[in-house]
This record gives sequence, structure tokens and C-alpha cells, in this order.
Amino acid sequence: MSKKKIGIIGAGSISDMHLQAYAKNNEAELYAICDLNQQRAEEKAKQYQIPNVYTNYHDLLANPEVEAVSICTWNNTHAEISIAALRAGKHVLVEKPLCRTVEEAIAMQDAVRETGKTLQVGFVRRYDANAQLVKHFIDKEELGEIYYAKATCIRRLGNPGGWFADVERSGGGPLIDLGVHIIDLCWYMMGRPKPVSVSGNTYHKLGNRANIKNLSFYQAADYDPNTNGVEDLANALIRFENGASLLIDVSFTLHAKKDEIAVKLYGDKGGVEIEPELTMITEKYDTILNVAPQTDSKSINVTEAFCNEVNHFVSCVQSGETPISPVEDGLNIMKILCGIYESAAKGQEVQL
Ligand SMILES: NC(=O)c1ccc[n+]([C@@H]2O[C@H](COP(=O)([O-])OP(=O)(O)OC[C@H]3O[C@@H](n4cnc5c(N)ncnc54)[C@H](O)[C@@H]3O)[C@@H](O)[C@H]2O)c1
Repeated sequence: MSKKKIGIIGAGSISDMHLQAYAKNNEAELYAICDLNQQRAEEKAKQYQIPNVYTNYHDLLANPEVEAVSICTWNNTHAEISIAALRAGKHVLVEKPLCRTVEEAIAMQDAVRETGKTLQVGFVRRYDANAQLVKHFIDKEELGEIYYAKATCIRRLGNPGGWFADVERSGGGPLIDLGVHIIDLCWYMMGRPKPVSVSGNTYHKLGNRANIKNLSFYQAADYDPNTNGVEDLANALIRFENGASLLIDVSFTLHAKKDEIAVKLYGDKGGVEIEPELTMITEKYDTILNVAPQTDSKSINVTEAFCNEVNHFVSCVQSGETPISPVEDGLNIMKILCGIYESAAKGQEVQL
């Protein structure tokens, strides 16, 4: 089969993970790149020997040689660019979150169905080797019925600022940026049950804490200490039709002792901690066992997970198979995220 010609739209931080992964994939060829910032696009083009450089994504999509695109732009452009790409006959790998609103997500799903093209959502945590190992154990009924999950992603100091802190471009703060990953991972492992209600809280108490000295943190390219419109903490309880529930909390900043990541699932036959360190919990001969699977990495290997995600995308484009993170899943996660923001604004539980 011929190599698939790939276009990258958005040449910022995360594009490197996509670029590296495509560069290693023998079935793909990096063919075009686009960024509003011409210098950024040209630098990446030079680094990865990409022959076609654009500053307007419509021009990239008009190139008939481009067969598939990775969309690595701000969240407010995911829906618009994905729909235009699908209608131009391209397959799409779009970064998380799928978009900003349920309405945008439905329009994206409609475009996938109308064009018959592939759209894969960049839920990269699903593609980590440990996550796939856990999924295999769950599919083999090792945990039994999963009725509870709990996930945390706490940054004590880590509001990246720039577009991340601009609600118009991001759609929200740590909930839509970090919460999307851990909610999706739990939901996927729980067997994608139908969400029925959410109760959430968001807090704007600490701001971006640009005043903090002696502790560095990641800042977006257009960081401005005076601009921040997003929550600094969110928590939520999500109920599912099958009676299962998911409890999460996420922050860009919090008076916490240290950063924390945890993803834990509990079934009636066993439990699993995917983060911070892969562990399975079971019972045998009236004894509780904490089992440590022997894998290359105890927690997510981000670079490898992106390679797996991109390899899966290229393979789905070649075969026409539906990706393991299709647009329908992106829509369900948007319903949960938007439901949490709505619940927090209303101060009450909302039905989905
Ligand atoms: N999967 C992950 O773990 C992960 C991690 C970080 C970021 N992301 C996602 O990746 C996306 C990009 O994040 P980032 O950290 O790379 O941001 P970034 O600001 O570093 O890069 C975004 C780039 O997109 C460009 N851009 C914006 N609108 C554009 C348009 N209409 N046409 C062309 N270029 C455009 C900007 O100029 C910028 O260079 C976001 O959706 C973010 O949520 C995912």
C-alpha cells in the first residue's frame, strides 16, 4: 500500500508528539504543515523535512495530495477545522478535547457520518500500553462489574496561561484540559456506560498565581500574567445508567502539598490502579493480593502512547476500520464535561 500523505494543522507544543510519531511510521509521509504563525510552521517543516508549508488551513486542505490531517490547534478551532477537513475528503486525528460544546460535537459527528471519513479523537491515554493491558484484563472479566471509579489530576501550580486561560479559545480550564483525559480513561475502562447525570463544582479562588516565586511551571507561548478567565479547580460526581459512578477532581492550582495523578477502578471481582503506578487488586484463598504487573513503565509512557495513537490512526485510514476512540466517544465526553460546567453554574445536579 502507498504511504499516506499527512498534513499537520497547528505547529505548537503538542504537534511535536504527532510529528515524531508520523516520522517513525513507515506507512505515513509528513507532507504538509500549517500554523497561523509562519515562522513556527517553517521551523517544524525544516526539522521534519515537510515540503509544503501553509498559514491558512483552507490552503492545506485544498491540496489534493493530503489524505489525512492531525489537528493540533486551540480547542475553539477543532470543530471548524475538522468539519472542513472531512468535507475536503481528508481523514482526521483531532486533539483532545473534541471541541468546546455539545453542539459542536454533534456537528462533527454529522460531518463524519455524511462524509464516511475517519475521525479519531486524541484520547492519548487509551493508547498507552498499560491502559491497553488493563482493558484486556477487564474484557476478560478479571474485575467483574466495575461499579465505581475515582480519578484525580491535581496541579498545585500549573495554569499554562495564554489560550489555555482564555475561555473563548479553550472552552474552560483544568476540567476540559486535564479532566477530559481522566474522565475518558475511566469511562472507556468502565465499558462506556451511558452517562445520565452529573453534579459538579468549579472554583475560581486562587487565580493563576503568577506571583509565585521559586517554583517554575509550564507556560504557553502567549503567556500573560494578567489574563485568566478559567476555573482553578473542578470536581464532579458522574452517574451512569447502569448504576456505576465516577468521582473526579482536577486543578490548575490548589494549596496541595504536591501534584497528584490517580486513576482507580473498582469492580466486584477486583480493582485496578492505572495511575500513579499500575497495580491490580484481587482476592485469592481468603487473602487480598496487590499484584504488580511487570511492564516497561509503571505509569503512562507519553511518547510511546502518542506513537500508538498515530499508528492506530494510520492503520484505520489504511483499512477503513473505526478507531477505538471514535467521534461518538468524543461527543459523550463533551456531554459529561459540559454537564459539569452547567451543574457548577446552576449549583445543582443536571440530567444529561
Ligand atoms: N493529548 C495531550 O496530552 C495534549 C497535550 C497538550 C495539548 N493538547 C491539545 O493540543 C492542542 C494544542 O495544544 P498546544 O499545547 O500544542 O498549544 P500551542 O499553543 O502550543 O499550539 C497551538 C498552535 O495552533 C496554532 N493555531 C491556532 N489556531 C490555528 C488555525 N486556525 N490555523 C492554524 N494554526 C492555528 C497556534 O498558532 C499554535 O502554534 C489543544 O487542543 C490541546 O488541548 C493535547
